[in-house]
Amino acid sequence: MSRTSFYTAAVHAGDDHSEHFGALSVPVYSASVFAFPDADEASAIHNEEKPGYYYGRLGNPTQTALECTVAELENADAALALASGMAAVSAAVFTACKTGSHIVAPESGYSTTTNFLHHIAERFGIETTFVDAADADNYRHAIRPNTSLLWVETPSNPLCRVTDIATVAAIGKAAGALTVVDNTFATPFNQRPIGLGADACIHSATKYLGGHSDLTAGILVGSTEFVTAARQGANKYYGGNIAPQVAWLVARGIKTLALRMERHNANAMAIAERLAHHKKVAAVHYPGLASHPNHDVARRQMTGGFGGMIGFDVGSVEAGKAFANGVRLCTLATSLGGVETILQHSASMTHATIPREDRLRAGITDGMIRLSVGIEDVKDLIADIEQALERI
Ligand SMILES: Cc1ncc(COP(=O)(O)O)c(C=O)c1O
Repeated sequence: MSRTSFYTAAVHAGDDHSEHFGALSVPVYSASVFAFPDADEASAIHNEEKPGYYYGRLGNPTQTALECTVAELENADAALALASGMAAVSAAVFTACKTGSHIVAPESGYSTTTNFLHHIAERFGIETTFVDAADADNYRHAIRPNTSLLWVETPSNPLCRVTDIATVAAIGKAAGALTVVDNTFATPFNQRPIGLGADACIHSATKYLGGHSDLTAGILVGSTEFVTAARQGANKYYGGNIAPQVAWLVARGIKTLALRMERHNANAMAIAERLAHHKKVAAVHYPGLASHPNHDVARRQMTGGFGGMIGFDVGSVEAGKAFANGVRLCTLATSLGGVETILQHSASMTHATIPREDRLRAGITDGMIRLSVGIEDVKDLIADIEQALERI
């Protein structure tokens, strides 16, 4: 069967009807322990001479089904499913780095990833140089002899900044450093980093892969060598394994990923265009707009669409709060990637404890709204957003 279409692959990736009694939906194996038929089998599975399961932290058939699905969708050799996006971030970083390693990462990206990189500099001597990732050449200038990892997040959270994956990956290869991309905002429907030269990518599967705001999960995707190292190192020792029930939910969500992303893309594009012409909106950050500074790069590497995330500025903290209080259909909440449209006002929520000058330097303006556009009827969304803008 041809799986050249992502729509087909999203439904069938990872299919193996020779297993699980032919069940079309791989069952939830609620087991933390697996028995062996005899001592030789026990020894072979324990020592990885033979594939198999023996202990929940180290794998489960439901987890394997999810891993095969995501590896296929990302055009990668292998995947490791984990308990959260941060478990995937830390597994990737600890697999690529050791004490004394150096990382180059974006100065603007998901705040907990940034804080994690500061944390491991202080605690473990793994230093990061933060660069303006809109210009991929900044990675080249930041390379040191001990650089082992180039971290990319594109489009970035929350400003939807775009980094040229192919250029950064080429810089990494020349320097002997791995390139890992956080592909959470794009999903493999819109962008496949490994085909662009990246060594691995990660997802917060809490977001679009799961897609229904009802789980926390992460996934690391890459070469068999890298993923095996993560499985036998970070996953085994730090124990961020995914629960089988959650793995099943993510796999179920992925069946409709293509349909959902198509709608997220179309809705977000229409809303971004409307916001760009609204008198109460000072700036719109969306890679699909020609006004986005890296729109050309986004067009080249985001082959499926520009995603469901928009940042926009309504001018002041008061206006941001008034907008957040004014929406009726959209929901005020801190996450993204679900079927429902949610938003947050960054200055009074996620970035409230950061000194204003630092926040402004990071590009988070007083009136910045992060909008995760859902799959509702776009006319209803635009009507709600416009009535809320009228109240500020
Ligand atoms: C881009 C990005 N990467 C990673 C994460 C971390 O994922 P999780 O919350 O599932 O640990 C998030 C969470 O918001 C995110 O937005």
